[in-house]
Amino acid sequence: MTMKNTVLVKTITQVRKAVEAAKSSGKKIGFVPTMGALHSGHGSLIETAARQCDFVVVSIFVNPTQFGPTEDLAKYPRTLDADMELCRQTGADAVFAPEANEMYSREQLTWVDVEKLTTGLCGKSRPGHFRGVTTVCAKLFNIVCPHVAFFGQKDAQQAAIIKRMVIDLNFPLEIVICPTVREKSGLAMSSRNKYLSESQRADAGAINQSLQAACQAIISGQRQSTAIIALMREILDRTGVIETEYIHIVDSESLEDVDTITRPVLIAVAAKIGATRLIDNILLDAQALK
Ligand code: PAJ
Repeated sequence: MTMKNTVLVKTITQVRKAVEAAKSSGKKIGFVPTMGALHSGHGSLIETAARQCDFVVVSIFVNPTQFGPTEDLAKYPRTLDADMELCRQTGADAVFAPEANEMYSREQLTWVDVEKLTTGLCGKSRPGHFRGVTTVCAKLFNIVCPHVAFFGQKDAQQAAIIKRMVIDLNFPLEIVICPTVREKSGLAMSSRNKYLSESQRADAGAINQSLQAACQAIISGQRQSTAIIALMREILDRTGVIETEYIHIVDSESLEDVDTITRPVLIAVAAKIGATRLIDNILLDAQALK
């Protein structure tokens, strides 16, 4: 394993300097924004960035503006030493880990809000969440000025919203979406999995099972979303501990509900196990509809 000599910078001035130096020697800049508590899902984004770019910046910032008043901002896991280690192993050149007052030095009066795509799915139960995400990503894009930014398919709605923001606001960068990394049980890796007990973690496997069952049903010819959603709900209910927040079958760009499946769709789930909220999804390609 080759270890990178990853530098840790805390200020906007420092990260800009590091990127400018890399750019002046002709390097292509890759950027992976994160909130830390890094796992192999983040790791795969950094590895992809390191393959496609010459200088990779990872940001680690638990962004207060995307947490609701009753959400887990205070207890969100913070593991900077382990995060640095993962960044060294996966090929990051610089980690930008600012304090909250570096990113929000004054009251934030300017917000980026993407319409329509933010109202459904997770937007329903997390009002203001995506406004916080798009605002901090816009700030980070302007600070880091990367050529390419990498996001995970795990947060499909976030990915669709960021892609649209970059188009609508003409950010001069490319967005690359990387596949979801899963545990052996099929559970999508998430920093919030740390909150799960052993038995909750086992039960959480049902989320991916429900998505797999939906795919199988579609491959076998089922085209009605209501029937597929009912099948998925049954699998989740059977655990006795999963409280389903939503199951939607939507167009992967517009995020609008699709009733009869005639083209590739995104199947998205949000569910709670105890106090822990988990999301997962699957992108169904044209192959499955043949
Ligand atoms: P965070 O949840 O830390 O995720 C950072 C990036 O890692 C996101 O693009 C997310 O989709 C990706 N990711 C998380 N789990 C993954 C998995 N199992 N497989 C593949 N990719 C995965 O998403 C955020 O932070 C924040 O909203 C952020 C964009 C940093 C803005 O604050």
